[in-house]
Amino acid sequence: MKLKDKVVLITGGTSGIGLETARLFRDEGAQVAVVGTNPARLTRAAVELGHDALAIRADLRHLADIDAAITEVVTRYGRIDIVFANAGAATAAPLEEVTSEQIDEQFALNFKGLFFTVQKAAPYLSSGSAVIVTTSFLNEVGAPGLSILSATKAAVRSLVRSLGAELAPRRIRVNAVSPGPIATPFHGKLGLSAERVSQTAAALEAGVPLKRLGEPAEIAKAALFLASDDASYITGAELVVDGGFTQI
Ligand SMILES: NC(=O)c1ccc[n+]([C@@H]2O[C@H](COP(=O)([O-])OP(=O)(O)OC[C@H]3O[C@@H](n4cnc5c(N)ncnc54)[C@H](OP(=O)(O)O)[C@@H]3O)[C@@H](O)[C@H]2O)c1
Repeated sequence: MKLKDKVVLITGGTSGIGLETARLFRDEGAQVAVVGTNPARLTRAAVELGHDALAIRADLRHLADIDAAITEVVTRYGRIDIVFANAGAATAAPLEEVTSEQIDEQFALNFKGLFFTVQKAAPYLSSGSAVIVTTSFLNEVGAPGLSILSATKAAVRSLVRSLGAELAPRRIRVNAVSPGPIATPFHGKLGLSAERVSQTAAALEAGVPLKRLGEPAEIAKAALFLASDDASYITGAELVVDGGFTQI
């Protein structure tokens, strides 16, 4: 077991990549706390992950919710060993339709929420801890209608280097996993019609050198590598798991 008795906080752990990672980390011996907003998904995740897991309702766009979530984890387990700051969401819109509110909303979750999750967890992280964040293939390629989501992810890529530098003296590693297009509910929440979603998925599949969407489990395995001692000399890095989309 690669994460025996480690305490892991996974934001966005109620769906898609985060939930699959929570399952894998639990199977590797970790005690897992997942964070989300949707009550039904939280309940399903709690049942699925079992009695030792914690499912916390927190909207990471609000600092008070982040504080409360961290307090709940530390009260239950006494410490945090691994943070997987993975929660993210987006609204698709072309240049002429992007609103100020949309920019604020997406940065509030994807950047600010992630930043303050790490900031507020940091006092409880001990030497040898690991922080992993989820970036995206969109910080390397341009995609119409996804300018703001892409910008949030580029900002998070930058953060990994800065926070890696700040936390290195405490022997805390900070890395990113960068998914390509992955088969999760994410795409259905972009505000596009079902037809546009399936057209986009087909176009992405065709563009990926390996000719398919990725599975959440393939991202979870990369996150496990970065979280475990197997990655003990890796910090400030971004591990790309995208079927070659941004690489070949
Ligand atoms: N799927 C892809 O193709 C892809 C590609 C590149 C990067 N990514 C990144 O991967 C990460 C995970 O996405 P996914 O594909 O697994 O999507 P997903 O299935 O939609 O999962 C998103 C997770 O984020 C949580 N979340 C959303 N808004 C939140 C908020 N305000 N506060 C707290 N939690 C919130 C959701 O919980 P609730 O629903 O309960 O709120 C859910 O658990 C995201 O950062 C995404 O940008 C995904």
